[in-house]
Amino acid sequence: MSLLSTRCSAKLSWINSPRILKCSRSESTALHFYQNKQLELYASKEPKPMTLRQLVFFGRSMDEDRLVKSANYVRTELPVRIAHRLRDLQKLPYIVVTQEGISKVYELYWSAFEKFRKYPPITNLEENAAFCEFLAGLLDEHATVIPNLSLGMSLSSPYLAPDDLDSFMRRMLVSRISRRVLAQHHIALSEIYAGKRKLWESAEPNVGIITTGLNVKVSIEKCANLLRNQLLEIEDAEGNAETPVEVVVEGHVDMRFSYIREHLEYIVFELLKNSIRATRIKQAGSTNLPPITATIAAGDNAVGIRISDQGGGLFTPQNPIQNPSDLFSFSHIRNSARMEHSRLISLRTASSYHRGVWATVNEQVESWKRSPDPEKEAGVGRHARMGIGLPMSNIFATYFGGSLDLKSLDGFGTDAYVRLPKLGTNLETVNF
Ligand code: COI
Repeated sequence: MSLLSTRCSAKLSWINSPRILKCSRSESTALHFYQNKQLELYASKEPKPMTLRQLVFFGRSMDEDRLVKSANYVRTELPVRIAHRLRDLQKLPYIVVTQEGISKVYELYWSAFEKFRKYPPITNLEENAAFCEFLAGLLDEHATVIPNLSLGMSLSSPYLAPDDLDSFMRRMLVSRISRRVLAQHHIALSEIYAGKRKLWESAEPNVGIITTGLNVKVSIEKCANLLRNQLLEIEDAEGNAETPVEVVVEGHVDMRFSYIREHLEYIVFELLKNSIRATRIKQAGSTNLPPITATIAAGDNAVGIRISDQGGGLFTPQNPIQNPSDLFSFSHIRNSARMEHSRLISLRTASSYHRGVWATVNEQVESWKRSPDPEKEAGVGRHARMGIGLPMSNIFATYFGGSLDLKSLDGFGTDAYVRLPKLGTNLETVNF
C-alpha cells in the first residue's frame, strides 16, 4: 500500500495535493480504507517491552512449547510495533514524505506489517523453522532502512524543526532495534535448540543473541584489531597511509556482563574508528602517534567505558557544532554535516548497493571491502562517511537505559563515555 493512498483514506493534512486527488479517484480506495482500519487496530494496542533479564530467563531452558510461545510472541508483537511507526510516518508533512528514501521505508514497513498480520499461528517446530526463515528474509530485506531513512531525513532537514526531526528518528531507530532484537533472538534460540548454532561462541556463552559473560576487554581489543588490520588498511591502500594508532585497554579488565555483543561492539567500533581517524589527521606526519586509551569501569549497576584520544577534539571549522550532542542529531540545523554532498552520495550508495547497518562489526568490515565504489570518480571513496555511526551508537547505548556522552578538549582530544546498565533490569526504551 503506498503512502499516498494510505493518506488518502486517512484524510490527513495534505489532502489537497494534486497527487492525492488523483489517488482518491482510484478504484482501490475501499481496500486502502480497510487496510488503514487494520493499521489503526494494531496501532491502538500497547506493545509489550522486555528487559534483557527477561529475554535471558525465558531463553535459558528451551523446549518445543517455549519455542512455539516465543515464535507467537514475535509474530504478534512485531506488527504492533511496526503499526506505531507506520502511523508516525503517516503523520509526517507531505513535503517530507516526498523526499528520497522515506517512501521506500514506508513501503517496506507496510509490506512487513501485512505479512505479519496474515501469518498464521505457529504450533510446532516445523512451523517454527519456516517462521524463522520468514523472519530472516525480512531482516535482510530491511537492511537498507537506516541509510534510506537517514537520507530522507537529511533532505527533509529544512522542513522539520530539529526537535521534531530528531524525536521522529529516535522513535524509528529505537523501534527498529527492538524489532530486530526480538526477531534475531528468536532465530538464535531456535538455531541453538536445533543444534545449528553453538551455545558458546569463543569463551563466552550465549542465550539467544545475548552473551552472558561478555568480556568487555576482549570486545574492545577485537574492534581495535579489526580497525588496525582491515578497515584502516583499506584507507591506507587508497593513499592515507599512516603509522598505526595503538589502543591501550586499562581499568577493570576482567569485567564481564550480560549484554548483546553486537550492540556493545557497534558502539566501541564507531568510537575507536572516530578516535583513530581524528588522531591520524591531527598528528599527520608524526611517526609516533599518541595511543588511544580505553578505560573499563565495573560499577555496581553499570559498566563504564571511556575512550580518550588526542585527535584535537570535536569542534572543527569544517563542522562547527553548538554542543557535542549535536553530533547525534539528524538535522542540518544542529549539525551542518547532514547536508554535505559527499555524505548524501554515500547514503544513496548504501541505500541501493549494500547493506546499510551491519549485524556485526566483522560484517561491517567485510561489507566495506566488498562494496562497489561507483562514486569514486566523483571523489567519494567507497567508505565515505554516512554520518550514521555516532547517532546509532547513541541509540544503541540508550536502548536498555545506558548513555553515551562526548567531551571535547578543544585543540587536544576527545573523551567518549559509554555507560551500559549491567543488571539487565531496564525495559527497552521504546517510546511507542
Ligand atoms: C527492520 O529491520 O526495520 C524490521 O522491522 C525488521 C523486522 C521486520 C524483522
